[in-house]
Amino acid sequence: MAHAELITGIDIGTSIIRIAVGEVAPDTGELTIIGLAEGESRGVSRGTIRSIEEVVASIARVKTRAEKMVGAQLSSAVAAISGSHITAQESKGVIAVARADGEIREDDVERVLEAAQAVSVPSNYEIIHVLPRRFSIDNQTDIKDPIGMNGVRLEVEAQIIEGQSSHIKNLTKAITLTGFGIDDLVVAMLASAEATLSERQKDLGVAMINIGAATTSILVFEEGDIMLVKVLPVGASHVTNDIAIGLRTNIDTAEAIKVQYGSTLSALGRSTDEIQLSQIDEREEGSFSRKYLAEIIEARAEEIFSMVDKELRSIGRSGKLPAGVILSGAAASLPGLLEVAKRVFRLPAGVGVPLGINSAIEKISSPEYTTAVGLVMWGHANREPSGYPININGLKWFAVIAEQMKSIVRIFKS
Ligand SMILES: Nc1ncnc2c1ncn2[C@@H]1O[C@H](COP(=O)(O)OP(=O)(O)OP(=O)(O)O)[C@@H](O)[C@H]1O
Ligand SMILES: [Mg+2]
Repeated sequence: MAHAELITGIDIGTSIIRIAVGEVAPDTGELTIIGLAEGESRGVSRGTIRSIEEVVASIARVKTRAEKMVGAQLSSAVAAISGSHITAQESKGVIAVARADGEIREDDVERVLEAAQAVSVPSNYEIIHVLPRRFSIDNQTDIKDPIGMNGVRLEVEAQIIEGQSSHIKNLTKAITLTGFGIDDLVVAMLASAEATLSERQKDLGVAMINIGAATTSILVFEEGDIMLVKVLPVGASHVTNDIAIGLRTNIDTAEAIKVQYGSTLSALGRSTDEIQLSQIDEREEGSFSRKYLAEIIEARAEEIFSMVDKELRSIGRSGKLPAGVILSGAAASLPGLLEVAKRVFRLPAGVGVPLGINSAIEKISSPEYTTAVGLVMWGHANREPSGYPININGLKWFAVIAEQMKSIVRIFKS
């Protein structure tokens, strides 16, 4: 019997590495998430790799967990890339349609997207995605899908998303050193959006905000197009630091306090609860009030959201996104955070969870797995009917992986 095809997504975060595994039904092609695994992430700071060795060991641990869960070896993965080095720019490409009868084929679209990549990318940056916004054929503008139409001149307006070459190389190296091939590299928040946002939300105007440990990523859609891609170097670990300072505890205790007792003021209500620190760590003395804890958390949450709102203002969308803001990342589970988001953004707010995906795993409906699950969905959506994921970056990744294989061989030889 032929093995069912598996698609794996790997999200290497600052604090946690998460892997999602999807199985593609051989008869229907339908995707089911059959495995979710996570483990501590070491050697990553602010979304970028600081120690290859530590990251490789961390990935290997989570990979083994995922393999046990699904009962199969995982050979390749769609990987997320994140960090404040990720930037976006607009670009245009123009080509002459190849066929004499003027019918536009897939290879014309590939060529025009390639032409759009001829932008000036800083020397230490690489293009990660070329996302078409709209096409024009001769004088007809605003075309979403030009394949099958006729014309002489095909033009595209695209969004180019770039990342720093060194980060891309370190990430691909760490992943390949654990024995994973890389099917594709996808900007983390695009993967989150793939899993959590509906086409309707993207048309109306929506901001996806992923609050990670050390980064907060923003992705804004309107009329189906990406309006803004931004990664800010602040996140939920700043809340932990504030708690450690405010309650004079060590970082680990502060982290445990945040996850166990943390909330915002509105979620706390009139509570006058006092918590003994010894309940969290027997070596700690004293107590704290949950109200004071909520004040600390709320102040930082407001600050982070205000920084995000400033980005929305820079594109004229502050208070102006009809489908509101969707929060993801593990910190999105913090009780009362949505209320703070609604107030600061003056918009509706919700927690993002994967939409329309089959799975019997309970954890799938939580905001921290949106990136890993989104990677699997991305791999599924971009795979060739015959099997494995492809994209226009495919060849480039093949070259990168070939380069990595050479360095692995060198390591083994030395
Ligand atoms: N239940 C919870 N309530 C509040 N905060 C939480 C909860 N669970 C986890 N967190 C916080 O979420 C943060 C981790 O989020 P996440 O796992 O999404 O980050 P990451 O992907 O590792 O980091 P990044 O995306 O910045 O690289 C930590 O700061 C953690 O304290
Ligand atoms: Mg993350």
